[in-house]
Amino acid sequence: MKRVFFMPFFTLKTTHMISQKPTHQVYAHYTAQDFLVWRLLFDRQMENLKPVVSSEFLKALKAVKFTNEKIPDFSEINALLKPLTGWELQVVPNISPQAEFFECLSRKTFTATCWLRSLEQLDYLEEPDMFHDVFGHVPLLSNHNYVNFFKGISDIFLKYGKNERVTELLGRMYWFTIEFGLIREHGQLRIYGAGIISSPGETENSLSDRVRHLSFDVRIILNTSFRTDIFQETYFVIDSFEQLWNSLEEIEAVLQEYMAGDPD
Ligand SMILES: [Fe+2]
Repeated sequence: MKRVFFMPFFTLKTTHMISQKPTHQVYAHYTAQDFLVWRLLFDRQMENLKPVVSSEFLKALKAVKFTNEKIPDFSEINALLKPLTGWELQVVPNISPQAEFFECLSRKTFTATCWLRSLEQLDYLEEPDMFHDVFGHVPLLSNHNYVNFFKGISDIFLKYGKNERVTELLGRMYWFTIEFGLIREHGQLRIYGAGIISSPGETENSLSDRVRHLSFDVRIILNTSFRTDIFQETYFVIDSFEQLWNSLEEIEAVLQEYMAGDPD
């Protein structure tokens, strides 16, 4: 199966092929093919995910009421999320520039695309569409510990984001948790990262014995680089979303050490 490829927000500067997409969601503009694509992607991924995805994600999927029959409506999602965690979605035409992305997160606003890939693109994408942004990312915005961590790393970015090294290191934290994080549930590895959840290839790869599974460790994550053009080779495993939330102080402390020129 081909790699479902997407550029993370922080490499936007290097992309030049991005085409302009809708700036707001007009639900009536979705075509029959869009609904078919949503159904195919949803059904296929749920089949892959059911035995291996975090129970927290399945719970969250119910909280936002996603089904295979209906392309999510952003206004309906916001009406559900707001009372739960205070978070909401804002449509962006393409991947957000990094500062804008974190500024929005800090205001409890997740920026997401509202277009869907075509039937011909089911397994290959050059930029994230709403199956990644919405199916992959949005359900867990209903989980309190998860969003507290999400907002927390955004607040840290805004505090130190003019420092390039800090930006790079926070990108690693984001990558190995929000995008490619695994969680241990009842002794079993389970998936919660959006980059895995939206990709059949990553779903298989992330739990295979070809890759390294390391326990969540702030210092090791901040010292681990990653590539966006291959399947991941290293995944970090948390014990709970509360553990992520509780790691914020350590993340900030280690970043301060880096800024002081003393990474050890
Ligand atoms: Fe993402």
